[in-house]
Amino acid sequence: MRIFLTGATGYVGAAVLDGLLRAGHDVTALVRDNEKAARVAARGARPVIGNLADAESYRAAADAQDGYVHTAYDTSSGRGPAIDRIAVDVMLAAAKRPRTASSNGPANRFVIYTSAAWVLGRTPEPACEDAPLNPISLVSWRPEHEALLIKAGTDTVRTIVVRPGVVYGSGDGLVGDLLKSAANGLVRVVGDGNNHWPLVYDRDLADLYVRLAANDGAAGVYHANDEGDERVNDIVAAIAPYVPVRPDVRHVPLDEARAKMGGVADALSLDQVVRSPRARALGWTPSLRSVAGNAARLLGEWRAARN
Ligand SMILES: NC(=O)c1ccc[n+]([C@@H]2O[C@H](COP(=O)([O-])OP(=O)(O)OC[C@H]3O[C@@H](n4cnc5c(N)ncnc54)[C@H](OP(=O)(O)O)[C@@H]3O)[C@@H](O)[C@H]2O)c1
Repeated sequence: MRIFLTGATGYVGAAVLDGLLRAGHDVTALVRDNEKAARVAARGARPVIGNLADAESYRAAADAQDGYVHTAYDTSSGRGPAIDRIAVDVMLAAAKRPRTASSNGPANRFVIYTSAAWVLGRTPEPACEDAPLNPISLVSWRPEHEALLIKAGTDTVRTIVVRPGVVYGSGDGLVGDLLKSAANGLVRVVGDGNNHWPLVYDRDLADLYVRLAANDGAAGVYHANDEGDERVNDIVAAIAPYVPVRPDVRHVPLDEARAKMGGVADALSLDQVVRSPRARALGWTPSLRSVAGNAARLLGEWRAARN
């Protein structure tokens, strides 16, 4: 299929790009400059240079695609939600535009939107896709975009919202930050660290996107996490033996962390137990089920990425 992808140079998007290419799709990737265009072209995508904030810079490239996968998010300008809305509108409009009889695309098109498990808020009891939303302030705008997507679904355009847990693998993201801090000798944990993080390995997450693209019946909300129900303290303890010097662990009170890092502090201290039954019903089985149980491997991935 011809798939339009945003965020291909990012953490989630790079994994999704590789997954889509491995599955044989023809991927057009929106990137912001020549250097990034060369990078995604080397992986096998067709780059288009543009900016999510400027709809005209990618409207034409988004036309005549069979599927749309949105993993980009703009953190640079402080206008992230507004820019996200522009991207959603452009992709939905392109997906819904009538195709000519001669276009040989699939029977129905799709738009996959990347949200986050953080829209669920505190969920100490297992939360499935139908759980009520109670977003932390960082993602308080997301439910509106999720609802817009879901409402826009039709017989010919499948709309899909993916809510990944905290992504791990390839040395990136919040788990990558923990690995780096541990290697540097001091890990700061926000709150008491007894909170659970919902987690998902980057390649497993990418596999879910590939399944959602391929499955003609897939539509609606999908959680994506490994269901390992790990506590932050257990993750940190599991990493410690694999770094040269056992790291100090400092528990930072939430208020102090908020003053330093804003709303991210609430995300880091969130207690979330999440289930992904709809993804599993598609046959999705995460290959990794734990960060703590794969600490040595993940540290190896972090070291490889650093070099
Ligand atoms: N990482 C996680 O653990 C996690 C978990 C749950 C949900 N999510 C969600 O997944 C999405 C992606 O997260 P991520 O961790 O992959 O972020 P990331 O690594 O920061 O990647 C963001 C991507 O968006 C692109 N981008 C940003 N602003 C853009 C703009 N104005 N025009 C075009 N492209 C733009 C970036 O391009 P450049 O390379 O040019 O900067 C990059 O490719 C976000 O919505 C995030 O909330 C992430």
